[in-house]
Amino acid sequence: MKIALIGGTGSFGMALAVRLREAGYAVVIGSRDAERAEAAAAELGVSGATNEDAARGADLVVLTTKADGAVETARSLRDAIGQTPVLSVAAELSFTKEGVFPTLEPTSIAQRIQAEIDGPVVAGLHSLAAANLGGEAAPDEDTLVCGDDATAKEIVLELAGKITSGRAIDAGPLASARALEGMTAVIVNVNKHYKAHAGLRVTGVH
Ligand SMILES: NC(=O)c1ccc[n+]([C@@H]2O[C@H](COP(=O)([O-])OP(=O)(O)OC[C@H]3O[C@@H](n4cnc5c(N)ncnc54)[C@H](OP(=O)(O)O)[C@@H]3O)[C@@H](O)[C@H]2O)c1
Repeated sequence: MKIALIGGTGSFGMALAVRLREAGYAVVIGSRDAERAEAAAAELGVSGATNEDAARGADLVVLTTKADGAVETARSLRDAIGQTPVLSVAAELSFTKEGVFPTLEPTSIAQRIQAEIDGPVVAGLHSLAAANLGGEAAPDEDTLVCGDDATAKEIVLELAGKITSGRAIDAGPLASARALEGMTAVIVNVNKHYKAHAGLRVTGVH
């Protein structure tokens, strides 16, 4: 399976690329700039391409751009994505004196992306810090994944189960993305308070 990491030149995309490559997936790092994509890809021994070319040849498109560029990027790639499933990992955060707040937007980024494209959108992996994901070994934590399309969600749950040593948990419909994206603000506040890279562990699920 070929996975395109749109905006994969950033810290999360690069960390995810390493884990996916180790798990046996074919990875293409996308960028707005072909040279930047190729340079990043060469570092990791995967392929690089413009975001558009990466999306066109993929079986799964992961939007790993900076969060506030995710919806616009999805819109611009609508034709290239077509019916291909898309994973959104984005969470919008605002950094204030009082702490980190989630976005005030009424719907999740993932739902806003779904309104722009035809392929089914799944949301997940928000709680995986790039610092943990890109470490020596797969991080020992659970991941939460949500979506309305059962086939697309199954593809992402399988992927999520291979990039951590924890469990990939089905968190229900795409509407759950609002809470998963908001949880990122909670985790960043925890990280600041405890000077940590916290992750999630769900109890009571077998
Ligand atoms: N960092 C984490 O620990 C973490 C954890 C979980 C989820 N996430 C999510 O993962 C995503 C990526 O995070 P990150 O920290 O890797 O982000 P980042 O480094 O700030 O940005 C990633 C890439 O996005 C592209 N980009 C920047 N502005 C853009 C715009 N306006 N439109 C289109 N592309 C743009 C750039 O690639 P080019 O210039 O090469 O195009 C950049 O290298 C975010 O949605 C974030 O919420 C991050």
